[in-house]
Amino acid sequence: MDSLKLSSFKLECCLFLVLIGVASAQLSPNFYSSSCPNALSTIQSAVQAAVNNESRMGASLLRLHFHDCFVNGCDGSVLLDDTANFTGEKTAIPNNGSLRGFDVIDNIKSQVENICAGVVSCADILAVAARDSVVALGGQNWTVQLGRRDSTTANRSLANANLPAPTLNLDQLISLFSNLGFTTQELVALSGAHTIGQARCTTFRSRIYNETNINSTFATSLQGNCPSNGGDNNISPLDTTTPTSFDNAYFTNLLNLKGLLHSDQELFSSNGTGSTNSTVSNYSSNSTAFFNDFSNAMLKMGNMSVLTGTNGEIRTNCRSVNSASLSSIDTKIIDLITSLFDI
Ligand code: HEM
Ligand SMILES: *[C@@H]1O[C@H](CO)[C@@H](O)[C@H](O)[C@H]1NC(C)=O
Ligand SMILES: *[C@@H]1O[C@H](CO)[C@@H](O)[C@H](O)[C@H]1NC(C)=O
Ligand SMILES: *[C@@H]1O[C@H](CO)[C@@H](O)[C@H](O)[C@H]1NC(C)=O
Ligand SMILES: *[C@@H]1O[C@H](CO)[C@@H](O)[C@H](O)[C@H]1NC(C)=O
Ligand SMILES: *[C@@H]1O[C@H](CO)[C@@H](O)[C@H](O)[C@H]1NC(C)=O
Ligand SMILES: *[C@@H]1O[C@H](CO)[C@@H](O)[C@H](O)[C@H]1NC(C)=O
Ligand SMILES: *[C@@H]1O[C@H](CO)[C@@H](O)[C@H](O)[C@H]1NC(C)=O
Ligand SMILES: *[C@@H]1O[C@H](CO)[C@@H](O)[C@H](O)[C@H]1NC(C)=O
Ligand SMILES: *[C@@H]1O[C@H](CO)[C@@H](O)[C@H](O)[C@H]1NC(C)=O
Ligand SMILES: *[C@@H]1O[C@H](CO)[C@@H](O)[C@H](O)[C@H]1NC(C)=O
Ligand SMILES: *[C@@H]1O[C@H](CO)[C@@H](O)[C@H](O)[C@H]1NC(C)=O
Ligand SMILES: *[C@@H]1O[C@H](CO)[C@@H](O)[C@H](O)[C@H]1NC(C)=O
Repeated sequence: MDSLKLSSFKLECCLFLVLIGVASAQLSPNFYSSSCPNALSTIQSAVQAAVNNESRMGASLLRLHFHDCFVNGCDGSVLLDDTANFTGEKTAIPNNGSLRGFDVIDNIKSQVENICAGVVSCADILAVAARDSVVALGGQNWTVQLGRRDSTTANRSLANANLPAPTLNLDQLISLFSNLGFTTQELVALSGAHTIGQARCTTFRSRIYNETNINSTFATSLQGNCPSNGGDNNISPLDTTTPTSFDNAYFTNLLNLKGLLHSDQELFSSNGTGSTNSTVSNYSSNSTAFFNDFSNAMLKMGNMSVLTGTNGEIRTNCRSVNSASLSSIDTKIIDLITSLFDI
């Protein structure tokens, strides 16, 4: 090869690598349109079936995506079981005994593996399943960004640190979300996820027995299923008005002092600064404002520290990292070649 051809080859090669970099650094809505065109419809049907069987599953799948993203980004880490190398996030305090939907994700993953093996990440399945759950329960649709890859590790102590506890006050909620890049308005919009799903007695007991900014009829009615001692795992809806409908009733409940969790009522409370009152009132009277802000905040949440390009891997089984049958350089080369087809 003469030197001119060689340098031209080097240039093309270099441009090529730059293109790959650009194409893989960011998520895109059509990431699977050629590599797995039926991925999204397969996920949607499976989510619809799971929600038809048990409407709460929509809430559980939405929460899984949230608990994935807030801990080291949306990388499927929440799905990993414990190994000799790390303790998974499933037994972190906010997750242990309350996070659910793992079997549904396993089922979706195996259906997607059957149509396109090794292509669709567990992290992307969580993002799509969260959106499809919201839509299945009457919420507004949004276009999910795709191309996340899966982590090869998990971090329980980070899950304990980054996931908000129901005991937090408004200023603590604002600062936790702010540390992860969210505005106070986005905190309020995302909290609207509590328009669906259930919480265990242990997470709201002190509120219904001890707090004063709660409707007393509401508090008394909850005490029936949440005794002051025992019954820790008895559940009540986060939105008593319309528990299986993704609407803005959560915010109206807050105006009526009928938030279930302490952290919910903090968004509209005489304690703290009251700085989120007007956003709660707005969302309560304008569901379009809530839906738009929620969709945008979900897109932002789904974008948190994603692994792209040749970082991470596409897990075969969402519960465990792939076994190292190929050397890591071989898998990097395969990933590089695979990524060429996604441009
Ligand atoms: C703002 C701070 C938040 C706090 C303090 C909080 C806390 C909680 C707690 C304590 C529960 C009940 C868990 C149990 O029973 O042990 C819960 C449930 C739930 N959370 Fe949150 N959460 C917050 C934000 C969010 C966000 C941002 C989302 C999603 C975007 C979300 C989605 C859900 C859903 C859907 C459920 C019901 C899950 C089910 O029924 O399986 N939460 N949350
Ligand atoms: C349907 O939901 C119930 C809980 O309500 C669960 O026990 C069962 O496994 C679910 N069935 C399917 C096929 O998902
Ligand atoms: C633990 O990590 C080592 C080194 O990365 C790896 O070879 C081994 O397979 C891992 N063990 C498990 C159980 O994942
Ligand atoms: C998780 O919950 C189980 C069952 O309630 C309990 O036995 C276990 O000790 C908990 N694990 C942690 C790490 O708290
Ligand atoms: C939601 O929007 C996406 C396009 O972004 C579409 O593929 C999907 O089918 C929509 N879901 C529903 C239930 O309409
Ligand atoms: C896990 O998260 C903690 C923060 O809670 C951090 O100090 C630690 O370095 C992380 N561990 C790993 C292995 O990344
Ligand atoms: C209510 O507050 C009192 C005093 O702080 C405390 O002793 C009690 O355990 C609390 N009750 C509940 C159900 O949390
Ligand atoms: C306000 O906060 C204080 C201290 O946290 C608490 O004792 C009081 O009950 C709260 N008042 C209301 C109305 O929530
Ligand atoms: C508390 O809720 C009950 C039942 O929903 C309602 O009838 C009552 O007016 C509410 N009380 C206050 C003070 O708003
Ligand atoms: C927010 O609403 C609560 C409950 O109605 C009220 O006590 C508080 O004064 C309001 N704060 C502001 C700043 O408007
Ligand atoms: C409701 O919110 C939407 C979206 O922000 C806005 O365009 C509309 O004007 C609001 N409607 C009212 C009645 O304020
Ligand atoms: C309500 O929220 C929407 C969306 O964030 C915003 O455009 C609008 O200005 C808000 N309206 C009021 C009255 O705060
Ligand atoms: C997602 O992250 C990329 C790269 O950091 C950024 O360009 C894009 O604007 C982000 N999108 C959202 C919705 O936050």
